[in-house]
Formats: sequence, structure tokens, C-alpha cells
Amino acid sequence: MKLTSILLLLPAIALTSAIDVSEEIMDIEARDDKRPPPNTTYMIACKHQDFHGWCIPDNKWVPWGKCFTLDKTHSNAITSYRVLDGCCAFFRRPGCTDRLFEAHNRGHGRVLRKLGKGHNDQISSYKCAKECGIRDGE
Ligand SMILES: *[C@@H]1O[C@H](CO)[C@@H](O)[C@H](O)[C@H]1NC(C)=O
Repeated sequence: MKLTSILLLLPAIALTSAIDVSEEIMDIEARDDKRPPPNTTYMIACKHQDFHGWCIPDNKWVPWGKCFTLDKTHSNAITSYRVLDGCCAFFRRPGCTDRLFEAHNRGHGRVLRKLGKGHNDQISSYKCAKECGIRDGE
């Protein structure tokens, strides 16, 4: 690669690492002082971007391996989410069927603003675990 192309790439590289760092800071801010309960993953999912509007669940430490189906008010309405200390799978249909995506220690909120078109206002159920590779179903 020529030196000029390397120089042109530098700002892009710097921008990428800046985003990573600010996401890490967000993640630290999100943590409670309390120690997490055992065998849980921290997850919040909110109605509007940047974690505005209502958020679910009330208790943000989600027990592993259990499927949660959102009620009428909350399904097909999630726009931002964050997952820490584990993985969560999100599904289009109740009972953890018709998978949308899995998220490991990441979130769509302040940095990425909101879920992409294909996933915005689509989530009806979720299940969390220590690692990704979460199975569909209850
Ligand atoms: C957490 O999970 C491990 C392994 O699955 C299990 O052995 C342990 O009893 C669990 N602890 C609690 C408090 O549920």
C-alpha cells in the first residue's frame, strides 16, 4: 500500500476506536454498584432510541435460559437495547420463535442510535444466556 493511502485510512481507524471506547464507557455507566445476581445477563430494551421511553424488564438482570414473551404493549415496539455480561437472543414472534438476532455484550443506543429497519419495532420475545448460541423456543 502506498503511504498516501495509509494516511487516508488513519482517520477512519481513529474513528472506529473512538466509538469502541465510548461504548465501553456507556457500559460502565450502565452497571449498578450492586453485584449482579448469579446466572443472569444484564439486558434493557426501550421503546425509543437512546433508551428513552419505557424500558423492559423491570429487573434488568435476566435469568439464563428462560424465554420471556412481551405483552401487547411492549411487543413490536423496541427501538434500543443493551446487553452486558452475556448474550441475549431476540425473536420476532412470541415464545422465542422466528429469531431476529443475538447480541453479546453490545447494544444499540446512543452510539448506533437505534435498531436497523429490519429489527426496529419487531421484537416480541427474548432469551438470555452466558454465551451466544441460544436455542429457539421456551
Ligand atoms: C448457576 O449456574 C451453575 C451452572 O449452570 C449452577 O451450578 C449454579 O448452581 C447456578 N447458581 C445459581 C445461584 O443458580
